Amino acid sequence: MKFIFLLVTSLILAACDNTPTVNAPAENTSSQQITQGKQVFEAHCQECHGVEAAGMVKDWQKPDAGGIYPAPPLNGSAHAWHHDMKTLLGTVNRGGIPLGGTMPAFKDTLTEEEKEAVLIYVQSLWPEELYLAWKDRNG
Ligand code: HEC
Repeated sequence: MKFIFLLVTSLILAACDNTPTVNAPAENTSSQQITQGKQVFEAHCQECHGVEAAGMVKDWQKPDAGGIYPAPPLNGSAHAWHHDMKTLLGTVNRGGIPLGGTMPAFKDTLTEEEKEAVLIYVQSLWPEELYLAWKDRNG
């Protein structure tokens, strides 16, 4: 397991210099799930949430000229890590439109397996201390 995370870490480091250096030790996951999650992310989420979920704009907290909020980063630098798995899954299922946002719903677009994998991939991008804090809050 440790080896896998070292591998993932070094791949990310190779791809980008300023991403967190330590990856979340998502103990209950397999490297296969992370690989699948990355594919789902690149196909369905990256266009808005950016490469490796780093976001597309720096000022993601500010609405654009039309009053629309950009997609936040999901890599641990915004709020995603404050939410438990059920809430995160709810966001993926329902999207943000019912709450006045713009994220599309993925309830019927992705399988349950794909939804779980994509969230595990996202978690694997969080710095270790955030992942541990998340685990502390959310059991
Ligand atoms: C069309 C753009 C778009 C796509 C595609 C998209 N999102 Fe989002 N996402 C957003 C926006 C914008 C928000 C902020 C809430 C809103 O406005 O709906 C958001 C919010 C979120 C949040 C809540 C973040 C937080 O800090 O609370 C999560 C989790 C999330 N998205 C995951 C995903 C995943 C996983 C996918 C792919 C399956 C995805 N999103 C695809 C635009 C997008």
